[in-house]
Amino acid sequence: MRRRLFHVPQWMVSLGRMLGLVWQAQPAIFLSLILLTALQGVVPLLTAWITKLLFDLLALVLQGSGSVDLVRNLAVLILIQAAALVVSQMIVPASRYLGEELGRKLTVTVESAVYKKIGSFGGIGYFENPGFHDTFRLASQGARFGPMQGLHTLTAFFQSTITLLGFLGMLIAFNPLLAALVGLAALPQLWLELKLGRQRFGLAFSLSPDERRVFYYGYLLSDANAAKEIRLFGLANHFLDGLLDTYRKIHAARRRLDLRELRWKLLLEALSALVFSIAFGVVAVQAFARRLSLGDVTLYVNAVRSIQSALSGMVYAIAELNEQALFFKQYDHLMALPQPVQIAPSPRAVPTLTSGIEIRGVSFRYSERHPWVLRNLDLSIPAGSCLAVVGLNGAGKTTLVKLLTRLYDPTEGQILWNGIDIREFDLEDLRRQVSVIFQDFMRYAFTAQENIGLGKVEFLDDLNRVRYAAEKAGAHETVTNLPQGYQTMLSRAFGEDGTGTDLSGGEWQKIALARLFMRQADLLILDEPTASLDPQAEYATYNRFMELVQGGTCLLISHRLSTIRVADMIAVLENGSISEYGIHADLLAREGAYARLYHMQADRYKTFC
Ligand SMILES: Nc1ncnc2c1ncn2[C@@H]1O[C@H](COP(=O)(O)OP(=O)(O)OP(=O)(O)O)[C@@H](O)[C@H]1O
Ligand SMILES: [Mg+2]
Repeated sequence: MRRRLFHVPQWMVSLGRMLGLVWQAQPAIFLSLILLTALQGVVPLLTAWITKLLFDLLALVLQGSGSVDLVRNLAVLILIQAAALVVSQMIVPASRYLGEELGRKLTVTVESAVYKKIGSFGGIGYFENPGFHDTFRLASQGARFGPMQGLHTLTAFFQSTITLLGFLGMLIAFNPLLAALVGLAALPQLWLELKLGRQRFGLAFSLSPDERRVFYYGYLLSDANAAKEIRLFGLANHFLDGLLDTYRKIHAARRRLDLRELRWKLLLEALSALVFSIAFGVVAVQAFARRLSLGDVTLYVNAVRSIQSALSGMVYAIAELNEQALFFKQYDHLMALPQPVQIAPSPRAVPTLTSGIEIRGVSFRYSERHPWVLRNLDLSIPAGSCLAVVGLNGAGKTTLVKLLTRLYDPTEGQILWNGIDIREFDLEDLRRQVSVIFQDFMRYAFTAQENIGLGKVEFLDDLNRVRYAAEKAGAHETVTNLPQGYQTMLSRAFGEDGTGTDLSGGEWQKIALARLFMRQADLLILDEPTASLDPQAEYATYNRFMELVQGGTCLLISHRLSTIRVADMIAVLENGSISEYGIHADLLAREGAYARLYHMQADRYKTFC
């Protein structure tokens, strides 16, 4: 193994990365802040020195030597002191404003980086992994506060170092032993702060799932969709109890750490006061022995206090930085996450679907801890034909769609498009060629036009195209009946003038279907798009759909077997693979799983007739 000559500690790497982010957000403010801080570091030195000179002059005056020179010197010192104080006071609000401004810029830089990264994930595997959500939370937190903390540490360091070196120089000249005592007294504090910082991070990490649970309870208790069930099942108090219990758990863990911190801090504060008292005693003894002037006494007492507070500030800043560096590592970790699906190094353009789709020996499970959903599945969809897939709940139909759209890659086997493995294609290009509606499609809190136009975002503002898609999906009439037509906000939570509206399940489904018709894709996939439609709308939708996809390739998934008879071929998915395949009449004649399902549904209708 190659040994590195210089080992750079992790917190330094993180500090560098954090400062890099601050610089990227706003270099001018970054530099101004450093400059102002340096200025602020010099002021205490200057004022302490002037105070000493003032006291010495005062001592001369008290001894009765009041010459004109003395008065002039006094006036000059008072003026310099006033100027230094004015500048240092003005630096405080100016730095605060610049800090706030930098914070705002940084939030934008960090949020755009984080969401850009997340948006770039081609698959959805991470989103279903709780560990990812913890990383995401801590990374956002670390990236939002860490860089400012890094800057704060740097400036505090800069400022404190200037103050510290000046005063330490004076104190060493006076009494090196005393200087060493004051300096060494800061070490236990450093040790404690570093230890506590690590514990705070460890706690934040372990409590992250509980914090997310609290957020979830809060969301449930205030969400419009959940409001119905919560009232009808009388769940409000149950969820509130859950929220409070989780809070209690979080607070108990935090309290334990706070108490530990309190015990140590009490001890260290006492130590610091003791060191100051010793220093005060040493200075007093020297003064009474007439080895110090009055000015010297104020200077050294001032020096001890200032060194203590500068050291304490530095120690605190280092510890904070160390803690933020741990959070920031999560940001780095998030940024370094690889694509959840395989990305071809030199992706191929997706050719027009001329021969068809072939699913060859595909097996899939959501993770190694999950059971197999699909096992050795073989299936083909010839170009220009419509295949229907039926199966019981949980058979793996939606999972199959996720594989076809590469939201996940198969664990084993391959999916071919015109004989080419779809993993070789450019992911975005593939998705342009496939149009899907999932059974749990999105209901966006945007206008009707946007809800449809989002099917092809480039045409979001093209009302003609949106209307055309709505007409195809049978959604046009629904939309025109809304208070503001296509401009109606489809959410009661966002419509500013109170005109926002919600739609029925079936109406939403038509809107989602319209989204599908915004694009012209080679492969159309409907995963139970008509479950909420009334029989008339369902019948019309399928007929229209079949007219529209004439010559196109499609995959239909539905539990209503009467409607999928329109498909060219039907496949039954059972136990992870295809158990039956054929046309409706043949499958009925076979009297297998399909026939059983079909008769069950048909009997139900007969019973009700
Ligand atoms: N994200 C997931 N993580 C882990 N397991 C999952 C996930 N999604 C689905 N499953 C499991 O995979 C199996 C197949 O689910 P899938 O959604 O594909 O079924 P389906 O055939 O579409 O069912 P339905 O008819 O109810 O829509 C189920 O047992 C389900 O529990
Ligand atoms: Mg499904």
